[in-house]
Amino acid sequence: MSSTQTPASTAPITVPAVASRKVRDGSDPLVMVTAYDAPGARMASEAGVDLILVGDSLAMVVLGYRDTLQVTVDDMAHHTAAVARAEPASLIVADLPWMSYHLSTEDTVRNAAKLIRAGAEAVKLEGGRKRLPMTESLIDAEIPVMGHIGLTPQSVHAMGGFRVQAKTSDAARALVDDAKALAHAGCFSIVLEGVPTEVAAMVTDAVQVPTIGIGAGPDVDGQVLVYHDVLGIEDRMAPKFVRRYADVKARSVEALAAYAADVRSKAFPGPAESYHLAADVVETLGLYGSDT
Ligand code: KIV
Repeated sequence: MSSTQTPASTAPITVPAVASRKVRDGSDPLVMVTAYDAPGARMASEAGVDLILVGDSLAMVVLGYRDTLQVTVDDMAHHTAAVARAEPASLIVADLPWMSYHLSTEDTVRNAAKLIRAGAEAVKLEGGRKRLPMTESLIDAEIPVMGHIGLTPQSVHAMGGFRVQAKTSDAARALVDDAKALAHAGCFSIVLEGVPTEVAAMVTDAVQVPTIGIGAGPDVDGQVLVYHDVLGIEDRMAPKFVRRYADVKARSVEALAAYAADVRSKAFPGPAESYHLAADVVETLGLYGSDT
């Protein structure tokens, strides 16, 4: 199969199937991409992507905020429902937004349940050992949890910006301990964001569940990128870890400019793009001279 062909199978991907995908055991790397609406989900599914993340990056790439802290559970549920309506074969994971899992375990389960009822099959939350009570209560409520450690965008102010994490030996060991604790608590996979390749490899070696990297190098069990970055819809920022596979923003601007020019020159719409009366009605109305 060439790299541009899509896999033939459309069997839905499940949480246990994802949990067993370790590259060291011979599995192919997992592929995850974000999506926030039905067309995006349909494209990801048709491309054979394993997991769709309804990420809280929604705040930045769709809703125009400066960081991810602005989205609410209701925003996330609204977009999760749109993704779910596309019925993708990919597993749908929805981000628990900031402040939806920080106050109490009860609040956490209630908020996660809203995302599950909207169509998510699992939720993702940021943080390591300090999130164990919330993680355990979700798993206790039969809600599968994906962990997210390293550069955790909801901690942007605490981190002093979007900075690569775990650059010292102590921080690297602490990250490994966080991953082990999350895996032990029952997380079915762990996102590793913005960490050195060597540290991502240490974490990946240390846990039996798959790690999914973003800005974490190749030695992980899968990769995730933001939809708007992969397709070149977002062209204002180019983080080092992004590879663009299309130039959709530039092509879209060109297409819209061509449409605008055709409207202004009256080249659009043409006869084939217009509705017409039947000939007898035209005759009855005495419209012989019209361009029908
Ligand atoms: O919200 C998001 O897009 C994410 C990915 C960067 C992992 O959490």
